[in-house]
Amino acid sequence: RMMKRQMECPRDIERLNGPFLAIYQSLIPLEEEKAKQKQLLTLLENIVSKEWPEAQLYLYGSCANSFGVSKSDIDVCLAIDDADINKSEFLLKLADILQSDNLQNVQALTRARVPIVKLMDPTTGISCDICINNVLAVVNTKLLRDYAEIDVRLRQLAFIVKHWAKSRGVNETYQGTLSSYAYVLMCIHFLQIRRPAILPSLQEMGCTYSVIIDDVKCSYFDQVEKLRGFGSRNKETIAQLVWAFFNYWAYRHDYASDVISVRTGSIISKREKDWTRRIGNDRHLICIEDPFEVSHDLGRVVDKHSIRVLREEFERAASIMQYDPNPCVTLFEPY
Ligand code: CTP
Ligand code: MG
Repeated sequence: RMMKRQMECPRDIERLNGPFLAIYQSLIPLEEEKAKQKQLLTLLENIVSKEWPEAQLYLYGSCANSFGVSKSDIDVCLAIDDADINKSEFLLKLADILQSDNLQNVQALTRARVPIVKLMDPTTGISCDICINNVLAVVNTKLLRDYAEIDVRLRQLAFIVKHWAKSRGVNETYQGTLSSYAYVLMCIHFLQIRRPAILPSLQEMGCTYSVIIDDVKCSYFDQVEKLRGFGSRNKETIAQLVWAFFNYWAYRHDYASDVISVRTGSIISKREKDWTRRIGNDRHLICIEDPFEVSHDLGRVVDKHSIRVLREEFERAASIMQYDPNPCVTLFEPY
């Protein structure tokens, strides 16, 4: 495994463009689904504002970052400015209110890492998680959505990678594999380091958007309409990029010393982050820096066993892209 294989992209890779684009298209949610999500958000806003008129609801996660596939649940953040709010009590009260407003399967999960209320809306059939004051997630959702505006190849690549990860069972943080959020960051970073670059680092550019949340300063260039065409000197197609993405994570990424950083748009070293040894439960076996909470490694859920599972899956995907006659099927075969 230490041997760096120098694989070359197969010459006939372009034949996979059509099929990959068809998969991407088939995963995009329909407008009518988006409308139902808005409808549910409005319903929730009405219910919440009766009890807490000053509260704000925000969509975050895949329903708002443009990386959501069809039939996803929605993630909602309830923001309320109340310094001495007890989250558990608040969530229990919220659950009570939602239940009496005829929402189904209402459940307060007060002991989760991110405490939430879960529910299902019988009118739209959509399920929803509501968290309290997780405003950093709302801001990183905006960052991802802004990156997606710059070059359509990001959305194409991320849909395919997420679809692959779900099919292969490596999108389960409770089993030590990676979150969808981590996979999207891996795709953004990968397109930042292509030469010529397909994406810039928005946080390295003059800032046009800036907020401070939980003492974390989040600022970056968000006038992305001015960046359309940024990556046009790079002519790589989705088929080449999927091949190169898996090749990178299978054979080229230096797991021993590298951290991928969307913030800087480059690779940085574990040493400079002091992520070289296990601290508590953080093993840093694959390092993905959160763009705003820079002490947060999205790879921290990965342990000794699941790093092997992940790397074997990257190698499997790379070898399918190299040799398989029908990668658009084999890649997504259930494990
Ligand atoms: N999030 C975060 N830090 C994490 C994991 C998630 O801030 N370690 C936030 C991000 O804003 C992310 C959202 O929570 O967009 C939802 O995370 P996740 O479920 O991983 O991603 P989704 O985009 O909702 O993907 P899926 O389509 O699988 O639901
Ligand atoms: Mg989600």
